[in-house]
Amino acid sequence: MDDALLAALATGVEQILILGAGYDTRVWRFAAQLGHTPVFEVDHPATAERKAGIVAENRADLPSSSPIRVAVDFRTDRLDERLVAAGFKPERSTFVVWEGVSMYLTRAAVKETLGTLHTLCGPDSRLVMDWWFMVDAPDAVSTVLRMSPQMLHLLGEPITLGIHPEDVGGFCERAGWPAAEVVGSVELEKRYVRDQRHIMPAMYVTRLERSLGTPLARG
Ligand SMILES: C[S@@+](CC[C@H](N)C(=O)[O-])C[C@H]1O[C@@H](n2cnc3c(N)ncnc32)[C@H](O)[C@@H]1O
Repeated sequence: MDDALLAALATGVEQILILGAGYDTRVWRFAAQLGHTPVFEVDHPATAERKAGIVAENRADLPSSSPIRVAVDFRTDRLDERLVAAGFKPERSTFVVWEGVSMYLTRAAVKETLGTLHTLCGPDSRLVMDWWFMVDAPDAVSTVLRMSPQMLHLLGEPITLGIHPEDVGGFCERAGWPAAEVVGSVELEKRYVRDQRHIMPAMYVTRLERSLGTPLARG
């Protein structure tokens, strides 16, 4: 996702949108490369407020850049209205990061949000997001992975959406965001892991590019 962000900045993307930002630190980690490119961080009001407090306490240790915080409760608020009110420019090329969120939503909610983003973002916009899917190998590790959504449910974070990497391209294309790249755990490990750790086989990342036509599927 960071590589895709840097590539987008190198080609002159005009604004950055980080959806469900949580404690995302890109606005500080990439302060030099971002320059004056506006970064909109969308999050639940409670998380956004807590993060603002942590940032204020650590201000002296951070580069001076700041995100434009957009408090949105996806259950009650309209993403497009809140973003435009915060200064987001719908006609501009946008790089969207949607990390660690899709697996906690419904298929309809992800489709709806991709459709909204298609309307909101200008031509040449790009989007990176990660996904979960149910591995189907019969071995013990895969069986534990298949049980993990139920275990997370007990912690109050139920995983609700799984789309197989072979199917995600069609899903995203119908929602207006054809996949330029689908990268699974084996390839991610090859590219980025330099120690003994493993990337969970049930996780993968997509790099999407906004289609020029109207999405086929909404809602
Ligand atoms: C698992 S975290 C991912 C955070 C970050 N993107 C990351 O990868 O570390 C999910 C994020 O979704 C946000 N979220 C959960 N429910 C939400 C809601 N109803 N409206 C807006 N944001 C919500 C949370 O505040 C949290 O920041």
